[in-house]
Amino acid sequence: MLRKATFSHSSRVCALSPPSRAQSRPLQRTAVSRAYSNGVSKGPAAGVPVTLHSSKTHPRMATAAQALSTATTTAPATPPDNRVTWAVEIITHIPKYDASDIGLLLTVISTKGERREAPLKSTKPPEQVERKGADSGEDLPGRRDSFAIKLPAGFEPAAIWVEDKDDLGDKIFQRDGDLSRLFLKVVTLSAGSSTVTFIANTYISTEQGNRQFIRDDAFSNAKLAGSEVLAALMADELQQLRGEGKNQNQAIDSPRSDPDRIYRYAIYNDLGGDVAKTPGNVRQPLGGSSEFPYPRRLDTNRGNVTINGVAYELPPNTADAALVNPGVFRSILASIAEVLPPGLRALVLGLNSVAPVSLAATPWTPQDDNFDTDKTRGFIGNAVSGVLPGALVSIDAAVGKKIPPPLRWLLQKLRVIPGDEFDSVEEVLALYDRGAQGPWSAFSRKLEEAEAGRLSGRTGQAAAGRGGNGDVLDLLKYDMPKSLQDRLDTWPTDEEMGRMYLAGQNPLTIEVLDPERLAQLLKDSAGIREAEERIRERHLGGKSLEEWAAAGEEAGAQPRLFIVDYWAVFGLLDTLEAANAGSNRVMHAGRCVLFRRSDGHLVPVIIELAHSSKTAPVTYTASDPAAVWQVAKLIFQSVDSGWHQLVAKLIFQSVDSGWHQLVSHWLRTHACTEPFLIATRRQLPAAHPMFRLLMPHFRYTLPINAAARGSLINAGGVIETNFSPGPFSMQLSSIVYGMTWRFKEEGLTADLAKRGFLDSKGGLRIKDYPYAEDGLLLWGALKEYFEAYVELYYKTDEAVQNDTWLQAWWNEVKTEAHKDANASGWVDLDSRSNLVLAALTIAWVASAHHAAVNFGQYDYSGWMPSHSPLCRRPAPAQGSEAWQKLAAKGVSSSEMFTYISPPATATKVMSTVKLLSAHAQDEQYLSTDAQDWLPLESDERVKAVFEAFVAQITKEVAPEIERRNADPANISRNPASQGMAYTLLYPSSGPGVTMQGVPYSISI
Ligand SMILES: [Fe+2]
Repeated sequence: MLRKATFSHSSRVCALSPPSRAQSRPLQRTAVSRAYSNGVSKGPAAGVPVTLHSSKTHPRMATAAQALSTATTTAPATPPDNRVTWAVEIITHIPKYDASDIGLLLTVISTKGERREAPLKSTKPPEQVERKGADSGEDLPGRRDSFAIKLPAGFEPAAIWVEDKDDLGDKIFQRDGDLSRLFLKVVTLSAGSSTVTFIANTYISTEQGNRQFIRDDAFSNAKLAGSEVLAALMADELQQLRGEGKNQNQAIDSPRSDPDRIYRYAIYNDLGGDVAKTPGNVRQPLGGSSEFPYPRRLDTNRGNVTINGVAYELPPNTADAALVNPGVFRSILASIAEVLPPGLRALVLGLNSVAPVSLAATPWTPQDDNFDTDKTRGFIGNAVSGVLPGALVSIDAAVGKKIPPPLRWLLQKLRVIPGDEFDSVEEVLALYDRGAQGPWSAFSRKLEEAEAGRLSGRTGQAAAGRGGNGDVLDLLKYDMPKSLQDRLDTWPTDEEMGRMYLAGQNPLTIEVLDPERLAQLLKDSAGIREAEERIRERHLGGKSLEEWAAAGEEAGAQPRLFIVDYWAVFGLLDTLEAANAGSNRVMHAGRCVLFRRSDGHLVPVIIELAHSSKTAPVTYTASDPAAVWQVAKLIFQSVDSGWHQLVAKLIFQSVDSGWHQLVSHWLRTHACTEPFLIATRRQLPAAHPMFRLLMPHFRYTLPINAAARGSLINAGGVIETNFSPGPFSMQLSSIVYGMTWRFKEEGLTADLAKRGFLDSKGGLRIKDYPYAEDGLLLWGALKEYFEAYVELYYKTDEAVQNDTWLQAWWNEVKTEAHKDANASGWVDLDSRSNLVLAALTIAWVASAHHAAVNFGQYDYSGWMPSHSPLCRRPAPAQGSEAWQKLAAKGVSSSEMFTYISPPATATKVMSTVKLLSAHAQDEQYLSTDAQDWLPLESDERVKAVFEAFVAQITKEVAPEIERRNADPANISRNPASQGMAYTLLYPSSGPGVTMQGVPYSISI
């Protein structure tokens, strides 16, 4: 095991310690040829070994030093009068601004490999500067330091090493606790008309020794194109990021910790926590097998425990940094509890044990990918405010009858807790803040009086983080989901169910049911044919399904038949049924045929559900012949006949809810994007143009995925305990990944084409499909941006083919990052257009796809009855006792609730999706000009391309979405037709749960 080296700063670059024996032999390095703006590779041919000489250096940098010319140590002294003064400007983000020495050491490396340590002489006092995108200047403010250095005449800076001095790190640590990080933003060297910029965007610390940065025009300046020095430096940096080589100041074989910068792949074998102690938490490792394929995750190297020959990663050390600090959380609870009546106070203080988001240690992620201070603060605030409204329900469920009967009676009377079951829709509605109505208002007024002026700052922030005004009522009640605001009676209707597949939280699964697909469906399902005959006259205008499918194919016609098909899990049902025996979970396979009526509304007409292969699937229809009319009517005549008639739709919507969370959201965005991030960090130098284009699309993805592994998708986590697939949830997503995930089908246009929505010219075949329509606007803007950007760096297709960095990256994506994915599903990186397509697909999934399925979660799933995560009873067969009970005249709506989530699990999911639907203060949206990586200050061409993109998003895309929402012809997004404005792909947003805004990346 390599131990972390502690090293003496007395042996800095100019007086380097001798290399070890192992280091002293000539290094065989593969020189890397690259394609630059002229499209010509000027470097040595790939595969040609270049012998480089080692020199004295700090151990960590030995490899890089070997890459440098021996001229460093043999160069003749330059006469002092032949030296040029360079101005150095360093922008950092620091824990606290003061005028003390920034404490950095700079070494400049020339294009020829010469090296000069440059004492930094301040030319003026440091300035505090505005930090773009920051919530406030309070934490990690920007700071500009100005220095002067002297370099020999003709010395052209190509790279720099920056080292954080010991004393500053210690000082920061002591004065700011866990905010010991110094973020190096950018370094600029200028002399005369020459300006060289080094974009850093990284946390540095004393433990890392020298950190290397390459000038930002390394890939666009023809003079640098063949530089072996730069190629070797970049190769060395990547080697370290891959955790390879032996000269790193990183403990490769130890569990990762700050400030390690190691990006390696691992399979999902860490979901069970401490499985040695809790064998019941053992879960099938995902990834690395054809049976359970999965995208790779970031390796945290915590060591394994082997059970029955299978290795499971040990849980994070509880001493590791937690994403949400338990101490902070407890202090917030205490400050809230102090304003409550004594009985409630005890309950709130017990909240820690029922928080939906684990406050336990979160798996390690590298500092450069971690949440920033503002993001962490917002996350804490949202976690707290999200959990509070359901807290009393959860505590009630947890302690049950231990609550003194009078208090429990009071709480129920006040509708703070509904008890073990919802007995009516009104009981669900009582969880929400509906203004000054009902007994709650009197209670809340009392609380308001009690709490006036007594909430702590952090509690106030927690409330403010959810858009509230900071009072207790605001913290203890859920906000009314926007899907119900001013349209409270809409949710149970067929029209609303259909609308949600075009404009809701999961608009990515609906498909056109064309004649070919229909023929296959009818072949597979006898029930659907039989059901069609029952509804043909009343709900299909007298035409058969075949006739409607054919009508949709006629020239100029729009498709009329659609399907949402979740039958793929049918093969798993028996396994799930056996595993769920004795539990309250029932998993269904389901498919729903939808018909677009001539009035434009899309409505479900047939739903087929199955919970076991041993029981015949049950088919429900929107109408029926006389013999079964009563039953059919009871299922579907929902609004005017009572809640009990909704069961078929509710079960199907529950299946959709699980699919949305596990497949459309978790698998296709979060899980599938992480390995692209890892490959990019490992294979593309930070100065590479595609690294800079893609990095904004990976911001915060590692820590949010780590948090998910810690408390959402883990054994016993929120998904397992509250969704129908239970402990099989992740296996389910693995099977779907193997069956359906193809990279080249993940971009918007390919996805729409696959689902039958594009015509031969690439146009949309239906009108009023908001996700597709607005998505195409964003897709088009991103595509133009990427095309123009790629054109700046690659003048020919051969330049793409000859870029060995790029090819190595893509090869690793296919063979490591997504090793288990279907091999036929890739785009070949053989042309500029395919490079654009590959990058665009990654960016699309991380930005718009994720935004569409993420930021509407609370405003749809926050209303449990139409998006129940859990189904507790099998869909009743026609004529069965359960069926008849539902069909009985005058049946209470409480019967309906026995099929779906009870209060305890419903509120847990409501709290969780509320947290996951919130934008942080420092969110970076497609519409904003915050861009950390592009050389906007130093490259006019890149600046022009980027500004054109921002202008297109803000001046064309956003206004067009507003126009569409205001157009009454678009009934799905028109309130007058019971629709609602589609804002999930509206580019910008403020913080909080806004149901709009498209960040660059998967940040929550
Ligand atoms: Fe998400």
